[in-house]
Amino acid sequence: NFSSTNALSRKINSVSVVGSGLMGSGIAQVTAEAGYSVYLIDQNQNALDKAMKSIQNSLTRSTKKRFNKEPDHAERYIKDTMDRIQATTELDSGAEKSDLIIEAIVENIQAKHDLFSKLDSISPKETIFTSNTSSLPITEIAQSVNRKDRFGGLHFFNPVPVMKLLEVIKTHETSDATYKTLLEYGLSIGKTTVECKDTPGFIVNRLLVPYMFEAVKMYERGDASFQDIDTAMKLGAGYPMGPFELLDYVGLDTSKFIIDGWRKRYPNDSTFQSSPVIDQLVSEGRLGRKTGEGFYNYKK
Ligand code: 3HC
Repeated sequence: NFSSTNALSRKINSVSVVGSGLMGSGIAQVTAEAGYSVYLIDQNQNALDKAMKSIQNSLTRSTKKRFNKEPDHAERYIKDTMDRIQATTELDSGAEKSDLIIEAIVENIQAKHDLFSKLDSISPKETIFTSNTSSLPITEIAQSVNRKDRFGGLHFFNPVPVMKLLEVIKTHETSDATYKTLLEYGLSIGKTTVECKDTPGFIVNRLLVPYMFEAVKMYERGDASFQDIDTAMKLGAGYPMGPFELLDYVGLDTSKFIIDGWRKRYPNDSTFQSSPVIDQLVSEGRLGRKTGEGFYNYKK
């Protein structure tokens, strides 16, 4: 039981988010909205510009209803939130000042090791490191640092500002104090937290990814059209999106990457079989919403 501890958590004031893609920008947004000062760090200035624009758009969208009768308040809220985010290409500038670092870069173990070993040498020794990985073991990522007791996982869901869940992952080496701090951070940004061990897919993806691939197998067998499977799961099971809509939303490449990684680790587990249809779509560059086409066409 992770909770039965008297360990003292640390106060978090400043957070660095490394990687300014879809997840990184969402994480920076919700963290800044909660009042933290945030460094959003990326090697690529264009990516940072794009991220700041998407945060602005997302805030505009979410404040519309909330400040319906007070547009001035909405404007102030957006400005205050944006002002708390410093977008930078300098890793040092954020890492040196942050109490918590959340990594959301590419799902490549070498890239993550390079980043964390650099961070380990430039960050204050109390700074807590976390990864938002959806497919790699936290324990393996943490191999590149000395502070293994101050390393854990914070797994967010897309769209980050809307999805209420945060999976908080504890490895065998994560200290109780670190874990407590991460749970408190999650609550402070308005998420509901669940406690996860460092197992493949944690809770949500371990169930969601095989479910989506099972839906594709059903379609591959010709049991039903993918449109009907989506309709069925939305209206018969109350899911907000059907499995094919969700695959397109998450990205077919991302979903394939996750299941391919698990299959390599667990070759005897048939749950992680590949899908010819997904492999074909990915090879054609039809990756889902982000490329304008996946199972569905979004170009219209
Ligand atoms: N930023 C801010 N607000 C947003 C937003 C964004 N990016 N996207 C949607 N919203 C807001 C809308 O403004 C709207 O707010 P309102 O109720 O105040 O008007 C509300 O969210 C609902 O949006 P819409 O009305 O446009 O659309 P839907 O009702 O269809 O909801 C959805 C969209 C929330 C995406 C919903 O379809 C959904 O929950 N889908 C499932 C998403 C899911 O399963 N995500 C997890 C994927 S797995 C993952 O991320 C893990 C990774 O490791 C692979």
